[in-house]
Amino acid sequence: MRRDEFSRRMMRETVLTPADFIYPVFVLEGAARSEPVASMPGVERFSLDRLLPVAERTLKLGVPALALFPVIDSAKKSLDAAEAWNPDGLVPTVVARLKKEFPELGVITDVALDPYTSHGQDGLIDASGYVLNDETIEALTKQALCHAAAGVDVVAPSDMMDGRIGNIRAALDARRHIHTRILAYSAKYASSFYGPFRDALGSAANLGKGDKRTYQMDPGNSDEALREVALDLQEGADMVMIKPGLPYLDIVRRVKDEFGAPTYVYQVSGEYAMLQAAFANGWLERDACLLEALLSCKRAGADGILTYFALEAAELLNKSGKNS
Ligand code: PBG
Repeated sequence: MRRDEFSRRMMRETVLTPADFIYPVFVLEGAARSEPVASMPGVERFSLDRLLPVAERTLKLGVPALALFPVIDSAKKSLDAAEAWNPDGLVPTVVARLKKEFPELGVITDVALDPYTSHGQDGLIDASGYVLNDETIEALTKQALCHAAAGVDVVAPSDMMDGRIGNIRAALDARRHIHTRILAYSAKYASSFYGPFRDALGSAANLGKGDKRTYQMDPGNSDEALREVALDLQEGADMVMIKPGLPYLDIVRRVKDEFGAPTYVYQVSGEYAMLQAAFANGWLERDACLLEALLSCKRAGADGILTYFALEAAELLNKSGKNS
């Protein structure tokens, strides 16, 4: 069966298509600005005007959705993260414009406070620096409502507080945001693979030597991921996510087998940086390896993959006709 391409195709179980990808993008305040991210070669932060052509390309390539990550000026960061629910803030402004220009393109926003806190944690902290669960949930709910009012399609709480999905769902329903979907980062690990992302967001310096182990999951745990996913689904999540990707594909498989829910995986910044470094050195074959890494995520059970390679991979698939 492996001898010829026709019979390999006949028995191939998993095939990648551009519809499998979600494209994470970094957005800056102001206009006519773009900045490279040093630790993520090929990734740029764009102001809204420069993001529009990127959104158009995403749509044309058949990638169904963008995930927005804002870079907030340090003057707007604070202890209470109030900029996170400013209706005239960067995220709601960008969401409204994207939905106006490209109504068919899905727009996903991250719900977490790290771009907005002066300390770079995802939540509000007490005097000892410990993230306070219940106070944080109230803030996250205001943030999610602000995004929903701006017209976002999907809110994606990435904060790992307990009970936030239920609280956000109830608040959305109470305000008749009945079409806002929730993609819960259910099993988000306290991973060291997020380093380049924190550089991109500018939260690395604020976080300093701090880490997120009091709320993100211990990389040694697997059963706990199932408990987290079960809670988020019970509380009203439409989709769940595992993060990071390649080092955690065993978790993706368990979650998909156990719940059969729409399951996503995030190929995070550190995974992207690793591959780019190897490509730049000529140590790995670029096109083949990036598609293989993404295919493996899907084979493990993911219905979709958040990846900084989304547009490049979609282009490769479209060109080669491999997605048919
Ligand atoms: C923060 C958030 C992080 C990522 C997405 N949302 C980083 C973190 O938890 O510190 C990481 C994405 C990546 O590394 O590509 N709420």
